[in-house]
Amino acid sequence: MFGRRWTSVLVILAAINLTSCAQIEDPCKTKARIVADDKYCDKYWECDNGQSVQYDCPNGLVFAGKHRGVTEGCDYPWRSNYCEYPKAQINPPIGTEHCDWLYGIFGHETSCTRYWTCWNGTATEQLCIGGLLYNENAHSCDWPENVDGCQKHPLCNEDPNGNVPLGKSCNRYWQCQGGYPRLQRCPAMLVFDRRSLRCVVPPTEDCDIPTTTAPPPEEEQQDARQGQHQKRPSNDFQEQQQGRTRPRN
Ligand SMILES: *[C@@H]1O[C@H](CO)[C@@H](O)[C@H](O)[C@H]1NC(C)=O
Repeated sequence: MFGRRWTSVLVILAAINLTSCAQIEDPCKTKARIVADDKYCDKYWECDNGQSVQYDCPNGLVFAGKHRGVTEGCDYPWRSNYCEYPKAQINPPIGTEHCDWLYGIFGHETSCTRYWTCWNGTATEQLCIGGLLYNENAHSCDWPENVDGCQKHPLCNEDPNGNVPLGKSCNRYWQCQGGYPRLQRCPAMLVFDRRSLRCVVPPTEDCDIPTTTAPPPEEEQQDARQGQHQKRPSNDFQEQQQGRTRPRN
């Protein structure tokens, strides 16, 4: 009785299998000898010794075509329209430390300027340079203004693209770009005006005309050191910046 029941289950399974086989092209009848699965974008069929055999793409990748993609004819799903409805990935993610899937590019846990590239489950930390931030949607480094919700600093809350005074400094200030502050210095002979938030010709209420000759180096250094103590926002920012970019252990 059990035997008979199992036989019918097997027959049904075989029938389902035959149906799905019948829907795809026989890879042995194609020139490339490899075809995409009709339902699952992370599976494909290859002609092995005259037989059609189903294969899985490496975990996290989808079938792109023979000699295409990053490995074994498979590619990152977001690189093209490989996986459009009703096709779907069937294999579940296999995660390792820092990697959501064995293969892919993933955001950093604590930093907006870093990200992980994963190859067979091994994560390599990458760094965005030149003030760029990792954009989760583009899977690449991008201008801060294109990276929503990342590294926006409270300094720039009022105006994400405005200027902010740096403590009592007369020539340095923060320039916000898309909510991300960058340290700037007024051109020579100009001073930062706390009211108009621009570099202007002195004097202003807070800043006298700078000495007409360049200040001796030691004077400028002293000025900068004083600045460090007075300028809470700058210290705050540096601390936060360090906290953010410190890799998680
Ligand atoms: C991936 O890593 C596993 C062990 O972690 C190893 O057995 C396998 O051969 C690797 N595959 C490739 C394609 O490198």
